[in-house]
Amino acid sequence: MDVKDKVILLTGAAGGIGSALARLLAGKGARLALMSRNVQNLNRLRAELDDSALVVAGDVGDEKSAEKAVKDTVSHFKRLDVLINNAGSAYHGSIEHMDMKAFDAMMKTNVYGVINMIQHALPYLKKTKGMVVNISSVAGKRAIPMLGAYSGSKSMVDAISDALRVEAMGYGIKVLNFCPPEVDTDFAKNAARERGIDFEAQKKFRRAMTLKPEKVARMITAGIEKEKREIVAMKSIRPLNYMVPGILDKLFYRFIMKPYKDRYSS
Ligand SMILES: NC(=O)c1ccc[n+]([C@@H]2O[C@H](COP(=O)([O-])OP(=O)(O)OC[C@H]3O[C@@H](n4cnc5c(N)ncnc54)[C@H](OP(=O)(O)O)[C@@H]3O)[C@@H](O)[C@H]2O)c1
Repeated sequence: MDVKDKVILLTGAAGGIGSALARLLAGKGARLALMSRNVQNLNRLRAELDDSALVVAGDVGDEKSAEKAVKDTVSHFKRLDVLINNAGSAYHGSIEHMDMKAFDAMMKTNVYGVINMIQHALPYLKKTKGMVVNISSVAGKRAIPMLGAYSGSKSMVDAISDALRVEAMGYGIKVLNFCPPEVDTDFAKNAARERGIDFEAQKKFRRAMTLKPEKVARMITAGIEKEKREIVAMKSIRPLNYMVPGILDKLFYRFIMKPYKDRYSS
């Protein structure tokens, strides 16, 4: 799909990956509707994009907001070609001490939000034989300690993508599931800070696997242009987890759990 002149509704637009993606897509001539909760951040991004984009503030986890975002986009641009479900949040903490309120809030964004947006966008995507892009995570392919709940929410995004791809095939709608590894945005740092965890202490281990948001934006855009079904931006994760899952357990323990042993072994 050539993104030029295509109408793209992008959730989580003001975040690290979202804003890099918005800049790249706008540069390629896409017409953008930018959604997230903080209007000021969206307006700042819009001003940077020559004011050509539409700002549709709202919470993807709220069904009425999702409906309004899709309706506002279609009433402004008269069509919808691509929905990018990029909004996401993390819950950082052990299964043992999981805060169920924080878990609910995360699920509302990462899972209910994806479904809400898809349900309201599908009638319009059927008309354009458009595309749904879900931003999942490599954590959905192999759960990461202290991110068990988040990993599970992304496994669910993978399942939604796989099921929807076949359900919507008859309408000519394509589905791309994109799974990044760690990306250099505030996302992971904020989640860790909320749990009182010093992310900087793990810098050495993480630096080797961290991508820049601009690179991730290029990979997602290429996936849309080539109409890929899934991109896992860390190819080794699935074969490793299939062939040597015990080695991954030990690596995760060594590099993620051990620095926090005192805190989490009581
Ligand atoms: N960064 C990573 O290491 C990483 C790795 C793998 C996958 N991912 C996935 O990539 C996606 C983007 O991550 P990022 O790193 O760019 O995160 P980010 O910098 O924290 O940005 C997240 C964006 O989502 C918006 N958002 C959050 N909750 C929302 C809600 N309920 N409704 C609407 N908008 C909401 C935020 O804006 P408001 O707060 O203003 O709403 C923000 O614009 C997420 O789905 C994440 O799970 C990230």
